[in-house]
Amino acid sequence: MSESPVLTTDHGAVRRITVNRPDKLNALNAATLDALRAAFEAAAAEPAVRCVVLTGAGAKAFVAGADIAEMNTLTPVQGRDFSLRGQKLMRRIEKMPKPVIAMVNGFALGGGLELAMGCHLRIAADTAKVGQPEINLGLIPGFGGTQRLLRLAGRAATLELCLVGTPVDAVRARELGIVNRVVAAAELEAETMKLADQLANSAPLALRGVLDCVNVGGECGIEEGLEYETAQFGLMFSTQDMREGTAAFLERRKPAFSGQ
Ligand code: COA
Repeated sequence: MSESPVLTTDHGAVRRITVNRPDKLNALNAATLDALRAAFEAAAAEPAVRCVVLTGAGAKAFVAGADIAEMNTLTPVQGRDFSLRGQKLMRRIEKMPKPVIAMVNGFALGGGLELAMGCHLRIAADTAKVGQPEINLGLIPGFGGTQRLLRLAGRAATLELCLVGTPVDAVRARELGIVNRVVAAAELEAETMKLADQLANSAPLALRGVLDCVNVGGECGIEEGLEYETAQFGLMFSTQDMREGTAAFLERRKPAFSGQ
């Protein structure tokens, strides 16, 4: 039996999901997209998991794109379905009720960058390269790349990356707002897990409130967004974690958040 295209391991309250096709630089075929979807559904449903780290197996790539060999034979209808399959996965990740960090350990190209952009935060190794090179295949991004890159990095950078197709290095990606942090490749693992542990120890319902507000706010006008934020803010006063967090501050101790 061939090895699973997606591996899952738990490190305390941090679930690590690894795309596991290192021989193909973790390229996303339909089976891998489906396995990722299942892995994220499981992480969403498990209360003990408070933060997710997504990465790629091997030293070379996060994910080098959608699987070009698989795409080569698709009909237009199958191509559309493949796009929807990828888009649904990225949307599922974006709407996860707990923070998802992409640990970008190498190439994040095409569907790989789209996958990383579906995550809430991105930490890249200084050796990583990111881009939307589909144009070189006579294609366009199909897993949400034109839309999420536009929202993350703006029109000029999106047009340049998608029209020209040349990847950028991690430092340039940070300058463009595509990745949050760049760290030395040797530190990537430790730095990412440090951040993941910090988030895993934070207040889960408040984290979810932030994620919901930002997701809603990215897609509506300011008045509607502010109204949504107010409603979420009010809701926080029903949580034990809000009482605990404010009491801990006043008592000069560390809070212990329960997720209630
Ligand atoms: N889909 C399918 N297979 C891929 C792939 C992809 N997106 N990216 C890499 N692979 C495969 C290669 O075909 C090769 O397989 P093989 O050993 O069976 O021939 C293996 O992964 C290693 O890749 P290779 O190209 O030999 O590595 P490299 O170090 O010379 O180049 C890249 C690395 C990332 C520059 C190069 O693989 C590349 O350009 N990949 C495609 C990037 C892309 O266009 N992505 C967008 C797709 S929508």
